[in-house]
Amino acid sequence: MLNWDDPLAGLTAQPNPATKTAVTLDIETFVEPSPTPAAPIAETRLDSVAPASSAATGATGLENIEMGARRIQVDDKKIINCRADLNQLVPFKYHWAWQKYLDACANHWMPQEINMNADIALWKSADGLTEDERIIIKRNLGFFSTADSLVANNLVLAVYRHITNPECRQYLLRQAFEEALHTHAYQYVVESLGLDEGEVFNMYRELPAVARKAEWALPFTQYLSDPHFHTGTPENDQRLLRELIAFYVIFEGIFFYVGFTQILSMGRRNKMTGTAEQFQYIMRDESMHMNFGIDVINQIKVENPHLWSESFKGEMIRMIREAVEIETQYAYDTMPRGVLGLNAPMFKEYLEFIANRRCAQIGLPEQYPGVSNPFPWMSEVLDLKKEKNFFETRVTEYQTGGALSWD
Ligand SMILES: [Fe+2]
Ligand SMILES: [Fe+2]
Repeated sequence: MLNWDDPLAGLTAQPNPATKTAVTLDIETFVEPSPTPAAPIAETRLDSVAPASSAATGATGLENIEMGARRIQVDDKKIINCRADLNQLVPFKYHWAWQKYLDACANHWMPQEINMNADIALWKSADGLTEDERIIIKRNLGFFSTADSLVANNLVLAVYRHITNPECRQYLLRQAFEEALHTHAYQYVVESLGLDEGEVFNMYRELPAVARKAEWALPFTQYLSDPHFHTGTPENDQRLLRELIAFYVIFEGIFFYVGFTQILSMGRRNKMTGTAEQFQYIMRDESMHMNFGIDVINQIKVENPHLWSESFKGEMIRMIREAVEIETQYAYDTMPRGVLGLNAPMFKEYLEFIANRRCAQIGLPEQYPGVSNPFPWMSEVLDLKKEKNFFETRVTEYQTGGALSWD
């Protein structure tokens, strides 16, 4: 069902020397940048967003309904800039999107199903954890507790409007709920351990190591969530593609992986096992989110090959390489000394290994030749087929509605 490497939707797009959009960033609402902010790749000013063109499609799908019009055919459907009725799920065009929706629903879980008693006892015992281990837990809760809200808001307020296909939107709705579950899971851990919620939930604005990643991502969503932004021109379609790569390939596909590895490594050493189990469920959801996003990106490329120009590809490569540097710095910041058999240089190689994979998945050349995976066990955690019965009992419970009562 779920795999690290879901098949790609297609990589037949040919390079086209189309225009590269030079945009400028203006993060006016982000008030506490890190002392060493990363140089922005794409700079954007919200007040310079082009007005809706006459070719722009309606985001709600309600604008183009024509009573008694001819029935929707598969060939009428397009992943962006579709002008056909968006209220009809079938006939399916993108079966991969519908299958991912079904797979996600079959793997439903809830944070409060996971027993946190061992974590609470360990956290409260004076000598249960080292100070370095406590830093890892707190900083990752600080990063993820707001990162998943950022992703959810990006989906609902920015991405959803511009993906003009009902089966993809069906998956986006499921993904949005899963992001809510992830934020719920972090809140549940914070509450269970009795942590200072103000400290944890404000880290993305107060602690440079955590702030840097949110600061990097915010401009992309701010631009696309502007109600005056519409796709339908090569420039704006490239902006959408850039934002999808920023969020699905980099934010969910690179920026989450130091934290996932640190927390799951703790669980493998029988420490904070409840928290690690929460993260394990979340990572499996995130793996599918990323694979869905990659399929969307590749489908947009197939249908709009002029967007995937040489200059745009070069920009995406620079963006991915910058992300590797930012996430490597996060590894150093959260792990100033070796701990749990891990150290920051191992993460540098791991991130380069992941970045190579991400590049290949969207049709870019690998950037870090010769690197290997220092954490092969992470791939096994992601592969449901290698771990028996992980979801089986819960899937059965949900399918039979065993938790529901009529009174
Ligand atoms: Fe998430
Ligand atoms: Fe996600």
